[in-house]
Parts: sequence; C-alpha cells; structure tokens
Amino acid sequence: MAGRLDGKVAIITGGARGQGEAEARLFAAEGARVVVADVLEELGRAVASSIGEAARFERLDVSSEEDWTRVVGVAVDHFGSLTTLVNNAGIVAFSAFEETSLEEYMRVINVNQVGTFLGMRSSIAALSEAGGGSIVNVASVEGIRGSNGLVSYGSSKWAIRGLSKIGSVEFARRGIRVNTLLPGSVATPMSALPPDTEVDSQAIVADRPIQRAGTPEELAQAALFLAADESSYISGAELVVDGAWTAGSLIRGMPGHPG
Ligand SMILES: NC(=O)c1ccc[n+]([C@@H]2O[C@H](COP(=O)([O-])OP(=O)(O)OC[C@H]3O[C@@H](n4cnc5c(N)ncnc54)[C@H](O)[C@@H]3O)[C@@H](O)[C@H]2O)c1
Repeated sequence: MAGRLDGKVAIITGGARGQGEAEARLFAAEGARVVVADVLEELGRAVASSIGEAARFERLDVSSEEDWTRVVGVAVDHFGSLTTLVNNAGIVAFSAFEETSLEEYMRVINVNQVGTFLGMRSSIAALSEAGGGSIVNVASVEGIRGSNGLVSYGSSKWAIRGLSKIGSVEFARRGIRVNTLLPGSVATPMSALPPDTEVDSQAIVADRPIQRAGTPEELAQAALFLAADESSYISGAELVVDGAWTAGSLIRGMPGHPG
C-alpha cells in the first residue's frame, strides 16, 4: 500500500521522545526516511534503531549552527535528499516575569526560537534542491495568548509563528511550504508540572471542552498532514490541536453546559 510520505526524507528535531518520537514513527510508517535528531543520544538512538533502516539518529543541538550544517548534510548524503523538516524540539521554563533573568530568558529563546530559525535557514538550500518540500514548525497555544509564568516560553512560541509566516512567503516560489502546529496540552515528559507546584493537573483539564490532554500520536497525525502532499496548497497556516481548549470557555450555569 502506498504511504502518504513515500519518497520523503524528513529531519525531525526532538525526535528522541514525546511528540517528535511519535512523528518519527508515524512518518516512517507512511514511507518516509527519517533523521531522528536530538540532544538525547541514548533515547534517540533507541528510537531510530527500533524503526529500522528507514531511520537514523543524529545528535543535534538545534541552537548550534554547526550541528545543523552537519545534520542536513547527513540527511542528503545518507538518504539522497531532504524534503521535510519538523522543527519540534523545545524546552519549557516556568518563572514569574520579574524574576526571569536575561540568561534564563535567552536559554529558552535560543532553543525554541533560534533553533527554529537555524533549522529553517540551514535546510532551505537542500529543500530547494529536492524541488520543494514542507516545513512544520511546532509552536504552542501559548503562542496565541499569554499565561503567567511562561514569559520565555510564550514569547518563543509567538516568534515561531512569525518565522513560519515569513518563511511561507519567502520560500513559496521554491515550492517550500511552511506551516505552524499549535498543540494544547500533550501527554509527554514536557507537560509534567514542576514538583513544587500546587496546581492540580486533573482539575485543569476537567474544565476544558475535551477533558484530557492530547496524545503524542494525535499531534503526529496533524504533523503528517502538513508534511504530506495532501496539504499542497496549505502554507503560512496555523493548525491548533488542543481539544477546543482555546476555542472558548465552558461556563458553568450557562445554557449548553454539559453539566
Ligand atoms: N507537551 C505539551 O503539552 C506541549 C504543548 C504545546 C507545545 N508543545 C511543544 O511540542 C514540542 C515537543 O514537545 P514534547 O511535548 O514532545 O516534549 P518533550 O520534552 O518530551 O520533547 C522535546 C524534545 O526536544 C528535545 N530537545 C530539547 N532541547 C533540544 C535541543 N537544544 N536540541 C535538540 N533537541 C532538543 C528534547 O531532548 C526532547 O526529546 C515542543 O516544541 C513543545 O514546546 C508541547
């Protein structure tokens, strides 16, 4: 049976676990060859070897220009081209605005925002060479609003939406599409709350329209759609995958509340 990504070669950053791992597995199952790129070497290697011949692990720190040059080169040398880039790697930090040092702010910006910029810039020549391709940048619903305690993370995710819009315009004539995926809560190691928090994670999701976090596999399905040729006319777009969390509020006592 034909795969939805037959003939594609993808770099997936943050591919060692969580959503990136699910994307690597799904993309390979749909016929792509995949470079699992991450700073977590042991986990990343295990993911790539369990996928088999269609995958290979490369150590990549997304904030390193040298790493990007090497990894794009490996994708092209080993698999013959580069058609797809998923800028999924990310880190989160929680701190009040006034207590966020510049160093802490830049630590998050360097991975989430600069990492996405470098990934895009480093891949454009190879994607052009392949006759075009798809870039999926993973932001967050924290990139369409603001939440307390997330000044570094939230601003990096707002910036990713900008990088996608600008890239979608600049690269369109080269056949390269750029879209943004905006997950809500996803059950991955990242979404574990800090140990000293008083927040009850069950209570948070209980008030949401769909009362649960998404799974990495559900997010991977959305990334697959944006990576595949099925979305050939979709570029510069944003896909929110959050179980209607940001669609609106369920207000207790008002008509239509499910009770
Ligand atoms: N989990 C959520 O609730 C949620 C919600 C919205 C958006 N997101 C976004 O989804 C993406 C994937 O996150 P996840 O939920 O799978 O979390 P995760 O922490 O399980 O995975 C993130 C991966 O990125 C890798 N990574 C971190 N820094 C890196 C670097 N400098 N270079 C290369 N790789 C690096 C990590 O090693 C890890 O494998 C992130 O961009 C995150 O911000 C997550």
